[in-house]
Formats: sequence, structure tokens, C-alpha cells
Amino acid sequence: MNKYITTPIYYVNGEAHIGHAYTTFIADTMARYERLKGNDTYFLTGTDEHGQKIEESAQKSGKPTQEFADEISASFKNLWDEFDISYDQFIRTTDADHKMGVQKAFEAMYAKGDIYKDFYEGHYCVSCETFFPETQLVDGEFCPDCGRATSIVKEESYFFKLSKYEDRLLKLYEENPDFILPRSRANEVINFVKGGLRDLSVTRTSFSWGVGMPKSLNDDKHVMYVWLDALMNYITALGYGKDDANMKYWPASVHFVGKDILRFHAIYWPAFLMSLDMPLPKHIGAHGWWTRDGEKMSKSKGNVVSPKEVADAYGVENLRYFMLREVPFGQDGDFSQRAFIDRINSELSNDLGNLLNRIIGMSGKYSDFKIDSVDVEKYHAKELDAMNEVLGNLDGFMQNLQTHRYLDELWKLFAIGNGAITGYEPWVKMKEGKVDEALATVALVANILAKASIMLSPIMPKTTNIIADALDFEINNNSYKELVIGKKLLKLFNIKKVPPLFPRVEEPLMSEAPVAQPNAPKDKVNGKARESALGQEIEEEKKEDDNLIEIGQFFETSLKIGIVIEAEEVPKSKKLLKLQVDLGEDKPRQVVAGIKEFYSAQSLVGSQVCVVANLKPAKLMGMMSEGMLLAAKDEDGLCLVRPEKPKKAGTPIG
Ligand code: MSP
Repeated sequence: MNKYITTPIYYVNGEAHIGHAYTTFIADTMARYERLKGNDTYFLTGTDEHGQKIEESAQKSGKPTQEFADEISASFKNLWDEFDISYDQFIRTTDADHKMGVQKAFEAMYAKGDIYKDFYEGHYCVSCETFFPETQLVDGEFCPDCGRATSIVKEESYFFKLSKYEDRLLKLYEENPDFILPRSRANEVINFVKGGLRDLSVTRTSFSWGVGMPKSLNDDKHVMYVWLDALMNYITALGYGKDDANMKYWPASVHFVGKDILRFHAIYWPAFLMSLDMPLPKHIGAHGWWTRDGEKMSKSKGNVVSPKEVADAYGVENLRYFMLREVPFGQDGDFSQRAFIDRINSELSNDLGNLLNRIIGMSGKYSDFKIDSVDVEKYHAKELDAMNEVLGNLDGFMQNLQTHRYLDELWKLFAIGNGAITGYEPWVKMKEGKVDEALATVALVANILAKASIMLSPIMPKTTNIIADALDFEINNNSYKELVIGKKLLKLFNIKKVPPLFPRVEEPLMSEAPVAQPNAPKDKVNGKARESALGQEIEEEKKEDDNLIEIGQFFETSLKIGIVIEAEEVPKSKKLLKLQVDLGEDKPRQVVAGIKEFYSAQSLVGSQVCVVANLKPAKLMGMMSEGMLLAAKDEDGLCLVRPEKPKKAGTPIG
């Protein structure tokens, strides 16, 4: 059977973080699982390189856009290679074949009458590359997805007749309740479609970093909307519009995506495919988001978990295991070193690693490392039944993408193995002269470890190869068919010693995330304030005096170090300077400050300032101001408040 598994293609405006690694790990696990079962599997990943956001990030870095995209795309590819991700293709949306395929698809939809030209006027969020109707904006202005200010864009645009597909989409969800996994996520999509679909603007004229129009349309002004371009990668990778050799893998078995991009995959993508008269993917698997120590990860907080750093410290396979075990697929997950270390020590080291060491030790003592399954059925029929039941349950969990339940179930095998050793006490049997019985227990455990390793191999491929090598067999479709499906037992073999597979971890191996700036009222747990930035527990005292505020109220204000990277005078204003201030975020904030009488624009460039970072943006002389500078003013004039020593942009003050 053919299987086609994909990750989202990652934007090239920043390095990979743990969220990207998670999607890639699940997809890689699924691809390896399908290959293990003998299915002809194609696994696609890659990078999404067009659009205004990438163009702007490149400009900020001072590099030509293509060079910028090349570098970040390579950093994703190198990381996946280092992590041994078993992708069959790494697609880039700047690949010539991809661009041609997108144009072919556009032409086909146009020829069908599903694309027409009109004008678009609306609120556009550059960061999300999406138009939003006014009703969805926060405070009439801010993006409902990322919270950044939107701008009004009016442009000529080609539109895709999304509205035409409303009924067919609803029918798709109704007839295929597993189209969206987990099922619990389907409702939000269904409600969105039921709320009415507007035709989708699928081209832009406001920037040029994108796939151009097909020649047949003779319209150079437009480039493709980045989501149309990006979604098409799933078929252009297989040769759509060029040669169809790999189209045998279509339709996709599962597109793995984060919950934030489910709508694009569960609504736009099937509608595009319906327009192209192509079969629809079988599943869209939407996973949740990862936080760090309970906090949302963001560049400005400096708490983004780098998958490379974690893998260097703890090992990439331990990380794969942790992420897939820790979170029920679809739910949000939290990365904390404590939880990670606990799982390494108790599940990997104790349950699995020790079990292997115990039988190596025992077989060394009792049988010169020979393991023979000949008496296992005679003495351990009950354990074999229990083992086979567990093995039979596993596939269902994987098909539903429930990796945590799959691993929970799989771990029952080690409980059976450890339970058999404790219960039958082979060392006592040896003393009693019941050698056959003692050796049967050791062989039972060897078989359990062999079968468990096969089923664990999609998640921990290298580690399980070491276990298989110790047990003198290879993990592949043959051993899967014989030992797992065929329920056969291992042939007589000599067990090998292995180095410790999962050394215990006593202390966190990475520095902890920076202590987040407390936001007391929101974060208060049971009426008690959380730790302050100084690490002290703050007891909140109710003060009678109206002039005093509680500490939590103070911490509601987010103060940060900023670095002025550009400054200019506001024409016709006596007081105002317009500054671009780096707060360590994706892009600098524009701050309009009344300090012109005291500072020249030029003198401020490069200087450090203290910024109130969570003020609602306001318009000053028609210009948006997204923060306020701290300053002190007396009869001698005004001076800005600055840190005593230089600090990194975005450093919290408090
Ligand atoms: N380029 C689009 C996808 C196009 S697919 C045709 C995109 N790229 S992205 O780089 O911004 O995000 C890629 C994936 O990473 C998304 O699935 C997103 O949900 C996921 N994550 C981003 N931050 C995340 C976490 N903190 N946790 C888990 N996944 C997160 O969107």
C-alpha cells in the first residue's frame, strides 16, 4: 500500500524551534512506522519561502531575499539531517519545479471558472499573511491570530470561489469524521464553514516575492498568495504539472499541522483540490502548541527551546520519546526539564534499560549468554498472551495518531517483563536446580524486549537498533512480520553486552529558561502570587491606603530594555520623534515620543532605552505608536531613563 506523510513547510524567517521539531518527529515516526509495516511510503518536508514576511525579514537582515531564504532553509535541512529525519524529499517553494506546478494548478482552476479578478479592500496582517474581516479584528484593528496591528490594503486581486465549495466541504466533514484528527478539533472547522465562506483572495500586488502568474494570464502585476503557493507543495513535490511518476502516492495519508494552521489545511486545501478534481487527503492531523515551563515561547522572552540544544544535552531520541509520550496528540504540551528527566530516569532507564541489563547479567551467569526460547511457551503462556494482546492494540493507537497512548500501551510490555522477573525469581529457580524454568523466564524477557524494540523503533530508531543487535536480530519488515504479526519467538542466540543506553540524569543539563516577568493578577495561583523576577515569593498584603498599589498591579506593566535602531523627526511637529525600537521581537516597534526638544534624532540611534511594552498602541499625528519611553522631567529639562550597563534588547525590567 502507498502512504504519503507530510509536515508543514516551515517559514524561513527564523531558526527551527521545538514546535517545528515536534511536528517533524511525529511525521518521521509515522513514516518509519508505515515502512516497518511494509508500506511504500513517501515522506515530505521542506520550507515555505515566499511572501511579504520573508521579504521583510530578509531586508532587516540586509541580505538579498534568496540568499536569506537559502541560509535558513539549509539550517532546517541540516538540523533534520543531524536528527536523522527520514524524509524522502525536502521541498523548497523557491524550487523551479514547484513554481511551475503552482502556476499549472492556478491555470487549471482559472480554466474551470473558479478564479476571477476583482478588487479587494480589507484589513491585512502582514505577519499572518492574511486578510481579516472587520468583525474578527480585536479592538477594530488588531489581528485576531497574532495580535499585531493590521493595515488597510486595497488592491486588485484574483479570487478563488471558495464559497462555491461550502456544501461539499460540510459533506466531506460529515461523511469522514476522521478527516480531521483528533475529532475534537473538527467542530471549530465546521462552525467556521457554517458561518459562511467568502471567496479567497489568491494573489497580491503589494509585493513581488512570490510565484508569478502563469504566462497565459499575461498579468505580471500579481504574485500568488503565499498560502496557495505553500499548500500546493504537497502535490508539486510528487510531480504535479511535470511528470506524474510519484503521483501514485497521492492522496496524502496524513498532513501533520499545528492547530494554528488547521483552517488552511482543512478548508482551503480540500477546496483547491476539489477545484482541481483531485482526491482529498485522508487525514489532517492537528497537534497542539508547546510551551516552556508553562510559558508561551517567544523570542522576546528569550525562552524559546532550541531543539539542537536539547538534543545535544539529552540526546535526540530521548527528546523524541519525551515529546511523543508527554502530550496527547492534539493537546498543548509543556517542555520542562524536570518532566523530561523524570521520564528518562523512570521509563527509559528503569523500565527499559534495566530490564535489558538484568537479562544480560542473568544469562551471563546462568547460560554463558545463550538464550533459548524453547521452554517459554511451556512456562510462560500467560505472559505470552498478555504480551500478544498489547502488541495487537498498538496499531489502532498509531492510526489515530495517539502516540502517547501507543507508548503507554507499549510500556505494558516492560511491566510484563519486569513482573515476570520479580514474580518467578530465576535466581531462586537456579538454586533449586530448576534451570529450564529460570532460563525460560530470561528468554521470555528477551522476546518481550525484541518485540517491544520493533514497535518502539519508529520513535527511537537508533537505540532500538542497538537493542536488536544485542538480541542478535535486525529490525525490519521481516522481523516485524515474524515476531510481531506472526507471534514467533527468537531463535537460539548469544546475547551481547551493551553500553548503558539511558544513563540516569541527576541534574538539569541545560540552563533554565529565563524567569519570565511575572504578570501577577493573571498568573496568581490560589490567591498566592508567583515568584518574582528576583526569585522571592511575594506575599501580597492588602493595604488600606488607596495610594498604594499591590505588587501585582505593578507587574501588570511590562517594562523592557529597547535599542533605538532608527530615529527621525516627525515633520511639522515641534515635539515628536519617530523611533524604531528593537525589543528583541520579530520586528522593531515604532514608538512616537515627545522628546524632540531634548534629543536630536541622530543622537538616539544605537542608544538603550526603557520601554513600556504592553501599552495599547495609539495614533499620534496619524502615526501608530507601539510603546512609551521612560523619562524623568524636572525644571532642568527631560532625560531618558537608561540601564546602567548595556543589556540585550527585550530584557525585562522589574
Ligand atoms: N509555512 C506555514 C505552513 C505552510 S504548510 C503548507 C507555517 N510555517 S511555520 O514555520 O510558522 O509553522 C510551522 C509549524 O510549526 C506549524 O504547524 C505551527 O503550528 C508549528 N508551531 C509553531 N510554533 C509552535 C509551538 N510553540 N508548538 C508547536 N508547534 C508550533 O505555518
